[in-house]
Amino acid sequence: MSNLFSLEGRTALVTGAGRGIGQAIAIAFAEAGADLVLVGSSPMEETEKRIAELGRTSTSYLVDLLDVPNITQSFQKIVSENTIDIVLNNAGIIRREPAIEHTLENWQSVIDINLSAVFIVSQQVAKQMLERGSGKIINIASLLSFQGGITVPGYAASKHGVAGITKAFANEWANKGVQINAIAPGYISTANTAALREDEARSTAILERIPAGRWGQVSDLVGAAVFLASTASDYVNGHVLVVDGGWMSR
Ligand SMILES: NC(=O)c1ccc[n+]([C@@H]2O[C@H](COP(=O)([O-])OP(=O)(O)OC[C@H]3O[C@@H](n4cnc5c(N)ncnc54)[C@H](O)[C@@H]3O)[C@@H](O)[C@H]2O)c1
Repeated sequence: MSNLFSLEGRTALVTGAGRGIGQAIAIAFAEAGADLVLVGSSPMEETEKRIAELGRTSTSYLVDLLDVPNITQSFQKIVSENTIDIVLNNAGIIRREPAIEHTLENWQSVIDINLSAVFIVSQQVAKQMLERGSGKIINIASLLSFQGGITVPGYAASKHGVAGITKAFANEWANKGVQINAIAPGYISTANTAALREDEARSTAILERIPAGRWGQVSDLVGAAVFLASTASDYVNGHVLVVDGGWMSR
Protein backbone atom coordinates (compact mmCIF):
# COMPACT_ATOMS: atom_id res chain seq x y z
CA MET A 1 0.00 0.00 0.00
CA SER A 2 2.75 2.49 0.90
CA ASN A 3 4.15 2.12 -2.65
CA LEU A 4 0.96 3.74 -3.92
CA PHE A 5 2.08 6.98 -2.29
CA SER A 6 5.84 6.64 -2.89
CA LEU A 7 7.52 9.26 -5.06
CA GLU A 8 10.81 7.37 -5.25
CA GLY A 9 12.59 7.82 -8.56
CA ARG A 10 10.49 10.86 -9.48
CA THR A 11 11.52 14.47 -9.96
CA ALA A 12 9.08 17.09 -8.72
CA LEU A 13 9.16 20.76 -9.70
CA VAL A 14 7.70 23.26 -7.22
CA THR A 15 7.19 26.97 -7.95
CA GLY A 16 7.44 29.39 -5.04
CA ALA A 17 9.35 26.79 -3.04
CA GLY A 18 11.20 29.22 -0.74
CA ARG A 19 8.55 29.51 1.96
CA GLY A 20 4.95 28.81 2.95
CA ILE A 21 2.87 26.15 1.24
CA GLY A 22 5.36 25.56 -1.58
CA GLN A 23 8.23 24.95 0.83
CA ALA A 24 6.19 22.53 2.96
CA ILE A 25 5.05 20.52 -0.05
CA ALA A 26 8.54 20.46 -1.64
CA ILE A 27 9.91 18.98 1.60
CA ALA A 28 7.00 16.49 1.77
CA PHE A 29 7.74 15.38 -1.80
CA ALA A 30 11.36 14.77 -0.73
CA GLU A 31 10.15 12.81 2.31
CA ALA A 32 8.09 10.67 -0.07
CA GLY A 33 11.27 9.96 -2.07
CA ALA A 34 11.35 12.56 -4.85
CA ASP A 35 14.22 14.74 -5.98
CA LEU A 36 13.30 18.38 -6.49
CA VAL A 37 13.55 21.20 -8.98
CA LEU A 38 12.86 24.43 -7.09
CA VAL A 39 11.65 27.56 -8.86
CA GLY A 40 11.45 30.93 -7.13
CA SER A 41 12.20 34.59 -7.57
CA SER A 42 14.76 34.65 -4.73
CA PRO A 43 17.23 32.11 -3.26
CA MET A 44 15.63 29.10 -1.52
CA GLU A 45 18.51 27.95 0.75
CA GLU A 46 16.34 26.77 3.65
CA THR A 47 14.29 24.51 1.37
CA GLU A 48 17.46 23.19 -0.31
CA LYS A 49 18.97 22.42 3.11
CA ARG A 50 15.90 20.57 4.37
CA ILE A 51 15.76 18.46 1.19
CA ALA A 52 19.47 17.60 1.44
CA GLU A 53 18.95 16.54 5.09
CA LEU A 54 16.38 14.04 3.78
CA GLY A 55 19.01 12.58 1.44
CA ARG A 56 17.37 13.92 -1.70
CA THR A 57 18.75 16.34 -4.31
CA SER A 58 17.45 19.69 -5.46
CA THR A 59 18.27 22.02 -8.33
CA SER A 60 17.16 25.64 -8.04
CA TYR A 61 16.21 28.08 -10.78
CA LEU A 62 15.55 31.78 -10.21
CA VAL A 63 12.58 32.76 -12.35
CA ASP A 64 10.38 35.82 -11.86
CA LEU A 65 6.92 34.47 -12.66
CA LEU A 66 5.56 38.02 -12.90
CA ASP A 67 7.71 38.43 -16.00
CA VAL A 68 5.22 36.59 -18.22
CA PRO A 69 6.99 37.10 -21.59
CA ASN A 70 10.10 35.31 -20.27
CA ILE A 71 8.46 32.31 -18.57
CA THR A 72 8.28 30.16 -21.72
CA GLN A 73 12.00 30.52 -22.40
CA SER A 74 12.95 29.88 -18.75
CA PHE A 75 10.86 26.71 -18.65
CA GLN A 76 12.12 25.47 -22.01
CA LYS A 77 15.58 25.56 -20.41
CA ILE A 78 14.39 23.87 -17.19
CA VAL A 79 12.60 21.11 -19.11
CA SER A 80 15.63 20.59 -21.38
CA GLU A 81 17.84 20.12 -18.31
CA ASN A 82 15.48 17.95 -16.21
CA THR A 83 12.95 15.17 -16.64
CA ILE A 84 9.97 16.43 -14.68
CA ASP A 85 7.44 13.88 -13.36
CA ILE A 86 5.47 16.13 -11.01
CA VAL A 87 4.73 19.85 -11.03
CA LEU A 88 3.26 21.93 -8.21
CA ASN A 89 2.10 25.30 -9.53
CA ASN A 90 2.14 27.06 -6.18
CA ALA A 91 3.68 30.54 -6.56
CA GLY A 92 1.07 33.23 -6.15
CA ILE A 93 0.30 36.66 -4.75
CA ILE A 94 -2.73 38.49 -3.38
CA ARG A 95 -3.53 42.22 -3.58
CA ARG A 96 -6.15 43.54 -1.14
CA GLU A 97 -7.92 46.69 -2.32
CA PRO A 98 -11.68 47.45 -2.54
CA ALA A 99 -13.20 46.58 -5.92
CA ILE A 100 -14.14 50.18 -6.76
CA GLU A 101 -10.54 51.37 -6.48
CA HIS A 102 -8.72 48.15 -7.39
CA THR A 103 -5.94 49.29 -9.72
CA LEU A 104 -5.34 47.73 -13.09
CA GLU A 105 -1.73 47.19 -12.01
CA ASN A 106 -2.81 45.08 -9.01
CA TRP A 107 -5.37 43.21 -11.11
CA GLN A 108 -2.83 42.50 -13.86
CA SER A 109 0.04 41.34 -11.63
CA VAL A 110 -2.24 38.91 -9.77
CA ILE A 111 -3.63 37.53 -13.04
CA ASP A 112 -0.09 37.29 -14.46
CA ILE A 113 1.46 35.15 -11.74
CA ASN A 114 -1.59 33.30 -10.38
CA LEU A 115 -3.12 32.38 -13.75
CA SER A 116 -0.98 33.15 -16.82
CA ALA A 117 2.16 31.64 -15.25
CA VAL A 118 0.21 28.47 -14.31
CA PHE A 119 -1.03 28.23 -17.91
CA ILE A 120 2.46 28.64 -19.41
CA VAL A 121 4.30 26.39 -16.92
CA SER A 122 1.70 23.64 -17.35
CA GLN A 123 1.95 23.85 -21.14
CA GLN A 124 5.76 23.71 -21.14
CA VAL A 125 6.11 20.77 -18.75
CA ALA A 126 3.17 18.91 -20.29
CA LYS A 127 4.97 18.77 -23.66
CA GLN A 128 7.58 16.50 -22.08
CA MET A 129 4.97 14.57 -20.04
CA LEU A 130 2.69 13.93 -23.03
CA GLU A 131 5.61 12.64 -25.09
CA ARG A 132 6.45 10.23 -22.27
CA GLY A 133 2.81 9.39 -21.54
CA SER A 134 2.98 10.17 -17.82
CA GLY A 135 3.02 13.09 -15.43
CA LYS A 136 1.23 14.81 -12.60
CA ILE A 137 0.43 18.51 -12.41
CA ILE A 138 -1.04 20.01 -9.25
CA ASN A 139 -2.25 23.61 -9.17
CA ILE A 140 -2.81 25.54 -5.97
CA ALA A 141 -6.32 26.94 -6.28
CA SER A 142 -8.21 28.56 -3.37
CA LEU A 143 -11.57 28.83 -1.65
CA LEU A 144 -11.78 31.85 -3.97
CA SER A 145 -11.95 29.38 -6.85
CA PHE A 146 -15.56 29.03 -5.61
CA GLN A 147 -16.28 32.24 -3.70
CA GLY A 148 -15.71 35.96 -4.32
CA GLY A 149 -13.85 36.98 -1.16
CA ILE A 150 -13.68 40.57 0.10
CA THR A 151 -11.48 43.27 -1.54
CA VAL A 152 -9.60 40.73 -3.67
CA PRO A 153 -11.36 40.73 -7.09
CA GLY A 154 -8.19 39.99 -9.08
CA TYR A 155 -7.30 37.12 -6.78
CA ALA A 156 -10.82 35.63 -6.98
CA ALA A 157 -10.77 35.91 -10.78
CA SER A 158 -7.32 34.32 -11.00
CA LYS A 159 -8.21 31.40 -8.73
CA HIS A 160 -11.54 30.75 -10.51
CA GLY A 161 -9.36 30.68 -13.63
CA VAL A 162 -6.98 28.17 -12.05
CA ALA A 163 -9.93 25.81 -11.42
CA GLY A 164 -11.05 26.38 -15.01
CA ILE A 165 -7.74 25.60 -16.70
CA THR A 166 -7.23 22.60 -14.40
CA LYS A 167 -10.43 21.10 -15.84
CA ALA A 168 -9.74 22.30 -19.39
CA PHE A 169 -6.27 20.70 -19.49
CA ALA A 170 -7.54 17.53 -17.79
CA ASN A 171 -10.10 17.04 -20.56
CA GLU A 172 -7.32 16.96 -23.15
CA TRP A 173 -4.62 15.11 -21.20
CA ALA A 174 -6.44 12.52 -19.04
CA ASN A 175 -6.36 9.90 -21.80
CA LYS A 176 -2.65 10.54 -22.41
CA GLY A 177 -1.42 9.57 -18.95
CA VAL A 178 -1.11 13.09 -17.58
CA GLN A 179 -3.20 13.92 -14.53
CA ILE A 180 -3.82 17.57 -13.69
CA ASN A 181 -5.69 18.44 -10.52
CA ALA A 182 -5.79 21.26 -7.98
CA ILE A 183 -5.79 21.73 -4.23
CA ALA A 184 -7.98 24.49 -2.79
CA PRO A 185 -6.49 25.31 0.61
CA GLY A 186 -8.69 26.87 3.28
CA TYR A 187 -7.35 29.63 5.52
CA ILE A 188 -3.72 28.66 6.13
CA SER A 189 -1.28 30.57 8.36
CA THR A 190 1.28 31.96 5.89
CA ALA A 191 2.47 35.38 4.70
CA ASN A 192 -0.44 35.33 2.20
CA THR A 193 -2.98 35.59 5.05
CA ALA A 194 -0.98 37.69 7.56
CA ALA A 195 -3.17 40.78 6.96
CA LEU A 196 -6.32 38.77 7.76
CA ARG A 197 -4.89 37.41 10.99
CA GLU A 198 -3.83 40.93 12.03
CA ASP A 199 -7.43 42.19 11.49
CA GLU A 200 -9.15 41.00 14.66
CA ALA A 201 -12.71 41.29 13.30
CA ARG A 202 -11.90 39.37 10.08
CA SER A 203 -9.81 36.84 11.93
CA THR A 204 -12.63 36.08 14.41
CA ALA A 205 -15.28 35.92 11.65
CA ILE A 206 -13.15 33.51 9.65
CA LEU A 207 -12.43 31.27 12.62
CA GLU A 208 -16.12 31.11 13.57
CA ARG A 209 -16.96 29.65 10.15
CA ILE A 210 -14.31 26.89 10.17
CA PRO A 211 -15.94 23.69 11.46
CA ALA A 212 -12.52 22.31 12.45
CA GLY A 213 -12.24 25.25 14.85
CA ARG A 214 -8.76 26.35 13.82
CA TRP A 215 -6.80 27.91 10.97
CA GLY A 216 -4.91 25.47 8.78
CA GLN A 217 -1.16 24.95 8.89
CA VAL A 218 0.98 24.24 5.82
CA SER A 219 1.40 20.70 7.17
CA ASP A 220 -2.36 20.18 6.66
CA LEU A 221 -1.86 20.30 2.87
CA VAL A 222 1.00 17.89 2.32
CA GLY A 223 -1.06 14.68 2.42
CA ALA A 224 -3.33 15.89 -0.37
CA ALA A 225 -0.29 16.99 -2.40
CA VAL A 226 1.53 13.66 -2.07
CA PHE A 227 -1.71 11.84 -2.97
CA LEU A 228 -2.18 13.91 -6.14
CA ALA A 229 1.52 13.47 -7.04
CA SER A 230 1.50 9.69 -6.61
CA THR A 231 0.07 6.71 -8.48
CA ALA A 232 -2.66 6.57 -5.80
CA SER A 233 -4.45 9.30 -7.80
CA ASP A 234 -4.02 7.87 -11.31
CA TYR A 235 -7.79 7.94 -12.02
CA VAL A 236 -8.31 11.42 -10.54
CA ASN A 237 -8.50 14.08 -13.27
CA GLY A 238 -9.53 17.74 -13.28
CA HIS A 239 -10.49 17.66 -9.61
CA VAL A 240 -10.24 20.59 -7.22
CA LEU A 241 -9.60 19.04 -3.81
CA VAL A 242 -10.69 21.32 -0.98
CA VAL A 243 -8.57 21.09 2.20
CA ASP A 244 -10.26 23.64 4.42
CA GLY A 245 -11.28 22.26 7.82
CA GLY A 246 -14.85 22.13 6.50
CA TRP A 247 -15.24 25.80 5.44
CA MET A 248 -17.06 24.95 2.18
CA SER A 249 -19.50 22.68 4.01
CA ARG A 250 -20.98 25.64 5.90
N1 LIG B 1 -2.27 30.83 2.78
C1 LIG B 1 -3.50 30.57 2.41
O1 LIG B 1 -4.44 30.60 3.22
C2 LIG B 1 -3.80 30.21 0.98
C3 LIG B 1 -5.11 29.80 0.68
C4 LIG B 1 -5.42 29.46 -0.62
C5 LIG B 1 -4.46 29.50 -1.61
N2 LIG B 1 -3.20 29.90 -1.30
C6 LIG B 1 -2.22 29.93 -2.38
O2 LIG B 1 -1.10 29.17 -2.01
C7 LIG B 1 0.02 29.59 -2.78
C8 LIG B 1 1.21 29.81 -1.86
O3 LIG B 1 0.91 30.88 -0.98
P1 LIG B 1 1.40 30.91 0.55
O4 LIG B 1 0.18 30.96 1.39
O5 LIG B 1 2.41 29.86 0.81
O6 LIG B 1 2.02 32.39 0.62
P2 LIG B 1 3.52 32.92 0.50
O7 LIG B 1 3.37 34.36 0.19
O8 LIG B 1 4.28 32.51 1.71
O9 LIG B 1 4.11 32.13 -0.74
C9 LIG B 1 4.04 32.59 -2.06
C10 LIG B 1 5.20 31.99 -2.84
O10 LIG B 1 5.16 32.51 -4.18
C11 LIG B 1 6.46 33.00 -4.50
N3 LIG B 1 6.40 34.11 -5.43
C12 LIG B 1 5.80 35.31 -5.22
N4 LIG B 1 6.02 36.12 -6.28
C13 LIG B 1 6.79 35.41 -7.15
C14 LIG B 1 7.35 35.71 -8.42
N5 LIG B 1 7.18 36.91 -9.00
N6 LIG B 1 8.06 34.75 -9.06
C15 LIG B 1 8.25 33.54 -8.48
N7 LIG B 1 7.75 33.19 -7.28
C16 LIG B 1 7.03 34.13 -6.62
C17 LIG B 1 7.04 33.48 -3.17
O11 LIG B 1 8.44 33.57 -3.23
C18 LIG B 1 6.55 32.40 -2.23
O12 LIG B 1 7.42 31.30 -2.24
C19 LIG B 1 -0.43 30.84 -3.54
O13 LIG B 1 -0.81 30.48 -4.86
C20 LIG B 1 -1.66 31.27 -2.77
O14 LIG B 1 -2.54 32.01 -3.54
C21 LIG B 1 -2.85 30.27 -0.02
